[in-house]
Amino acid sequence: MQDLSPRPGDLEPVETASVDELRALQLERLRWSLRHAYDNVPHYRAAFEAAQVHPDDLTGLEDLARFPFTTKAHLRENYPFGMFAVPREQVARVHASSGTTGKPTVVGYTRDDLAAWAGVVARSIRAAGGRAGHVLHNAYGYGLFTGGLGAHAGAELLGCTVVPVSGGMTERQVQLITDFRPDVIMVTPSYMLAIIDEMERQGVDPRSTSLQVGIFGAEPWTNDMRREMEQRLDMHAVDIYGLSEVMGPGVASECVETKDGLHVWEDHFYPEVIDPVTGQVLPDGEEGELVFTSLTKQAMPVVRYRTRDLTRLLPGTARTMRRIEKITGRTDDMIILRGVNLFPTQVEELVLGLPPLSPHFQCRLEREGHLDTLTVVVERRESAGRDAAQAAGAELQRLVKASIGVSVDVEVVEPDAVERSVGKMRRVVDRRPVR
Ligand code: DLL
Repeated sequence: MQDLSPRPGDLEPVETASVDELRALQLERLRWSLRHAYDNVPHYRAAFEAAQVHPDDLTGLEDLARFPFTTKAHLRENYPFGMFAVPREQVARVHASSGTTGKPTVVGYTRDDLAAWAGVVARSIRAAGGRAGHVLHNAYGYGLFTGGLGAHAGAELLGCTVVPVSGGMTERQVQLITDFRPDVIMVTPSYMLAIIDEMERQGVDPRSTSLQVGIFGAEPWTNDMRREMEQRLDMHAVDIYGLSEVMGPGVASECVETKDGLHVWEDHFYPEVIDPVTGQVLPDGEEGELVFTSLTKQAMPVVRYRTRDLTRLLPGTARTMRRIEKITGRTDDMIILRGVNLFPTQVEELVLGLPPLSPHFQCRLEREGHLDTLTVVVERRESAGRDAAQAAGAELQRLVKASIGVSVDVEVVEPDAVERSVGKMRRVVDRRPVR
């Protein structure tokens, strides 16, 4: 594998700023961001007032702990544009992610926001070893999902030649990698494995490709998986993290020279880790739920947004900015299937709309080859005939694809075949081997 460490002069000044300089910048920006949210978003004004805090109360970074959390539910309550802090006309783009109630979570960006986002993605790609002049194969999905367009803009800003493939059509992915000779690939780790399998099917040796680095994110993956991919592809595998509510990809990213967790781009996003039950801020080093406050976002500032992702904050290494450890899991039951977020409640809504199917169902996660699959195992209602139930099952499969955007299998079983429970329903059965 090639040495892709940054060369002198590659980094932005803020990446090597001292911790004190960084904290001073954060405090100034945080003051602005809280004021901006309070002045322009009715939700924040009401939430701050209910918590009896005012933006002027922030005199030090630690005062942030007095401000209320924001959750996905708040975004949903204010669907579609109610969390925007600028007139809609100033919103240059929206993205959205699937939600539990059928309504997606909508996020918006001004032109300045898009420029800042491209900036942190460019920084992330460079941290991973990408350079101006590299060919970059972007297999994150384009569209409402932030992955495709987010990666795209950052790669262009860095000066890469971008191949905007998006996800899917695996045979063609392999052909383009063979023909265009990309240096960098951006893709979910699970889809990368599918591409490797397809390479092997076509007789292409994955270690022989032009790829030097893969920038993988949008779903959890482990260091074991990194080793597997680096070995199979003879390239660096580097982690990128983000979420639409905070920005998209590029909230935090790993540096190729250390590969020891993801540096949070703290000049734009202020991280905290809290106890998910009590909401108390935890000291750096302790595991809990990751929370972000945006420092520069204009269109949709977020104040103490609860990501539900579990990790720890660690001191900076390759950069002065703090790192998060690879995400270990989530506090809620969100399933991330091939990079698409999906909640059992979304499936429930669809099941309940189909009378021949009973509300007793389970989501069974398995792994076929390297790709995760989800089977919705659902019971026929006693009153429904078998043929009607089978037809409803086929309809369910279509509806999941149409509304959530991911292909699942549906298995219609006899009444009482699905496990019952006395407390919480075990909606998700995870049969995937631990990677
Ligand atoms: O997945 C943004 C993204 C796109 C990140 C491409 C990286 C690459 P959402 O669809 O809103 O946004 O999903 C966000 O995905 O809260 C995590 O649970 C999970 N996630 C994202 N990146 C990682 C990662 C994009 N590197 C949710 N490791 C987050 C583990 C990740 N989980």
